[in-house]
Amino acid sequence: MTSPLISVKDLTLRFRTDEGLVTAVNNVSFDIAPGEVLGLVGESGSGKSVTAKALMMLNADNSVYDPASRITLRVDDQEIDVLSLRRPREQMIIRGGAISMIFQEPMASFAPAISIGDQMVEQLLIHSDMTVARAREISIEMLDRVGIPEPAQRFKQYAFEFSGGMRQRAMIAMALSTKPKLLIADEPTTALDVTIQAQVIELMKDLVEEFHMSILFITHDLGVIAQTADRVAVMYLGNLVETGTVRQVINTPAHPYTRGLLNSLPKLDDLEAPLTPVPGDIPSPLDRPSGCVFHTRCQEFIGDVCKTQIPDYSKDSANHEVSCHLATQGEQS
Ligand SMILES: Nc1ncnc2c1ncn2[C@@H]1O[C@H](COP(=O)(O)OP(=O)(O)OP(=O)(O)O)[C@@H](O)[C@H]1O
Ligand code: SF4
Ligand SMILES: [Mg+2]
Repeated sequence: MTSPLISVKDLTLRFRTDEGLVTAVNNVSFDIAPGEVLGLVGESGSGKSVTAKALMMLNADNSVYDPASRITLRVDDQEIDVLSLRRPREQMIIRGGAISMIFQEPMASFAPAISIGDQMVEQLLIHSDMTVARAREISIEMLDRVGIPEPAQRFKQYAFEFSGGMRQRAMIAMALSTKPKLLIADEPTTALDVTIQAQVIELMKDLVEEFHMSILFITHDLGVIAQTADRVAVMYLGNLVETGTVRQVINTPAHPYTRGLLNSLPKLDDLEAPLTPVPGDIPSPLDRPSGCVFHTRCQEFIGDVCKTQIPDYSKDSANHEVSCHLATQGEQS
């Protein structure tokens, strides 16, 4: 078996705030294999973006990593202990080098007063010793590759001169031009209309196959995950509650929260049916529920055990993993 490209083990991340320490990620573990697309889903505030940013050490200065947390990146037969990279020079190995990230709002990722092309060239020069002429050539090639017409002209333009869809494509071109091993796509399509969304997803799938890179694809939409990912990790209030292949999680969801998310999707065979969002509100991260974090909203609550005991992770023979007392109840009785 090949080693994972990246392994996250017992990641716990808190933020110092005026109200006290807020736990945003709690004891999260997952691997991403080379060439694999892992989807990370969960409602707003569940900790998807801060988990992704941890992989690149991009969280704000008020972040506090629990000492037991480990993130190991394997590149060129070398193991990099990501959370130990303190100096900016060391962090460059990962940021925009081995790992690239595309954000929800591409406008925020481009400097407004520097042309798209100059930003792409600069990024390439930071991560390699190629000439400026070669960096220009690669950048224009990448703009062409992501379907931007007249790439040599577009190369000289500024982010505000691009439409939303074109900006998103330019950001993908910039993220992929350094040929990262891992691409983190944080809600890369939510700001786009449905047709362009589908095109961008197709484009990412093609490029990933061509460059054989892994992707961490973040969204709150399980429908998008079904189209893009190999495996899915479902996050709730900073915890991973279920992990499995797309087929396992969508066809036989094991966690009541995942079942709730799936129920909230529009039914294609009955478009008149009302949408049923997961009932209740996400608790404040400052006041995390005892026992199972989902117990205040769970429709399948089985009693005091849910309120008092944190459910273990249990895995079936096909590596479908879940953290819920329902899964272990059968084993105990
Ligand atoms: N710098 C920070 N200081 C304090 N709290 C923070 C900070 N950054 C993130 N958080 C908190 O961490 C939690 C997780 O945030 P995160 O942005 O990862 O959510 P998300 O799952 O990406 O949500 P969304 O779908 O809305 O993007 C939230 O409660 C958020 O308020
Ligand atoms: S442990 Fe209990 S409360 Fe939590 S998801 Fe399972 S059944 Fe629901
Ligand atoms: Mg987010």
